[in-house]
Amino acid sequence: MRLKNLVAIVTGAASGIGRACALRFSEEGARLVVADINGADLDETVALIQAAGGEAVAVCSDISKEDDARRISATAVERFGGIDILVNNAADFTTFSVEDASMENWQRVLGINVIGTAMVAKHAIPHIRTRGGGAIVNVASTSGVLAQHNFATYNSSKAAIMTMTRCMALDLAPSNIRVNSVSPGCVITTATEREWVRMGLTREEWTVSAAAEHMMNRVGEAREVANAILFFASSEASFITGANLMVDGGRSAW
Ligand SMILES: NC(=O)c1ccc[n+]([C@@H]2O[C@H](COP(=O)([O-])OP(=O)(O)OC[C@H]3O[C@@H](n4cnc5c(N)ncnc54)[C@H](O)[C@@H]3O)[C@@H](O)[C@H]2O)c1
Repeated sequence: MRLKNLVAIVTGAASGIGRACALRFSEEGARLVVADINGADLDETVALIQAAGGEAVAVCSDISKEDDARRISATAVERFGGIDILVNNAADFTTFSVEDASMENWQRVLGINVIGTAMVAKHAIPHIRTRGGGAIVNVASTSGVLAQHNFATYNSSKAAIMTMTRCMALDLAPSNIRVNSVSPGCVITTATEREWVRMGLTREEWTVSAAAEHMMNRVGEAREVANAILFFASSEASFITGANLMVDGGRSAW
């Protein structure tokens, strides 16, 4: 077991990649604090972990609110005595061109994806430092390095996460806290389901067209991204910090 006796926070764990990551970490022996704005589905994640014999506690929270961000770490310390790993996975999917985006659209997507990520980390870092070090993994996206029509808001937020990851890695290296990001290609989750509904496509039509953007001619599975996050979180990545790993079936290299 690669995370035995470690305490891990995963945000955005009510569905998709966050849920897969929480389940994967639990399989590897971690005790989980799972956070999400969607309390009902978050409780289902906890139930799935417990049914498989793991330990998890849910914190229904909006990461764009600092009190909520603070409560996530406070719960980890209260319930499990500290924090070793933080996975910043929660995200908002507001996608507009610069011409079409309102001030509110920008404030929402940057408030959750960039500032929310920073606030969750801000309140977790002192506790990870107290343990003598640990790992933070931020979920960015191929969208952070690619241009896509009418995606300026979301893509800007994901590029910011990659830069923030490198800055955090530099600031936290003396504290023995490694900070890395993973950048998924297209993965079927509730987020992509909303996307094909918005585009007026069926799941099959969207999958075929999204797959064609990847060298491997398929979309990814949430568990495949969870495995990459697990690698960064584990001691197997002990000499890696400030890195971004594309988990994208060759999408960005094409
Ligand atoms: N699915 C993909 O194709 C894909 C591709 C690249 C990157 N990503 C990234 O992967 C991560 C997970 O996305 P997903 O596809 O699993 O989507 P998802 O919608 O299934 O999961 C995102 C979760 O974040 C939660 N969330 C949203 N706003 C929140 C807030 N303010 N506070 C707390 N929780 C909040 C949602 O409730 C949801 O459960 C995101 O960072 C996303 O940008 C996804």
